[in-house]
Amino acid sequence: MIEEMNIKQVLEWYILAGVEETAGDEPFAKIEAAPVVHIAAPSQRKAPEAAASRQATTALSQATQNACQDARERCKSVTTLAELKTLVENFDGCALKLTATNTVFGDGDEHARIVFVGEAPGADEDRIGKPFVGRSGQLLDKMLTAAGLNRASCFITNILPWRPPGNRTPTDGEIAVCLPFLKRQIELVSPDYIFVMGASAANALLDIQDSISRLRGHWLEYTDDKGRKIPVLASFHPAYLLRNPGQKAKSWVDFLRLKQKMSEQISTE
Ligand code: URA
Repeated sequence: MIEEMNIKQVLEWYILAGVEETAGDEPFAKIEAAPVVHIAAPSQRKAPEAAASRQATTALSQATQNACQDARERCKSVTTLAELKTLVENFDGCALKLTATNTVFGDGDEHARIVFVGEAPGADEDRIGKPFVGRSGQLLDKMLTAAGLNRASCFITNILPWRPPGNRTPTDGEIAVCLPFLKRQIELVSPDYIFVMGASAANALLDIQDSISRLRGHWLEYTDDKGRKIPVLASFHPAYLLRNPGQKAKSWVDFLRLKQKMSEQISTE
């Protein structure tokens, strides 16, 4: 029954992604290698690039800067995801927590090879307390299944652990305060790859300011606070795909790229 459901989901996804014909049994046969784009750390960027980066933390209010510093310091004291979850649940430095029902911490395999990063919980996630369980999450699940990735073997999280009221776009201050929590989740999971969904997630994690249509499909690089470099693939956010189904085929190609890179690494191990 479960197998049947998976096949049904895969077929549904192929249809959603615009696949009209199959040329063989292997759907992952020929995906062109994505270009690798290197993004320098903010401190090493030349002036024009630096100007294109996100609002500098120093432009944030003193209270926000203090909250960022507090979040960073607290993160240093935890060594497991369970401890980090409790820390985030008890953190009072972000006003979004006041209007949220639940803290939505990352979910999945704590030893995952791949971390998926979205923007912020929506209404369903806020109610249930888990990331990507609403309509966007259902589409993400379909994409994962179709690409042969099991959700339970991935780690799925967001830049923000609290829902912005009415799903409004998060402010630079909210992102800055919550970013240490995302970075620490990534450090603790220590994945081989990161898949960022949407411009907010890509720009926040990589400290850049670019459109998702320019970033998507490229291998970028995230350097964690310990200097470990992790390849990052950017793609569209599932919510954007729900509003713009015509873009699903591009997203599908990104999932295939990810899948291909993951299998290449296994075959060279
Ligand atoms: N959109 C996101 O960015 N994250 C979620 O968890 C759900 C919807």
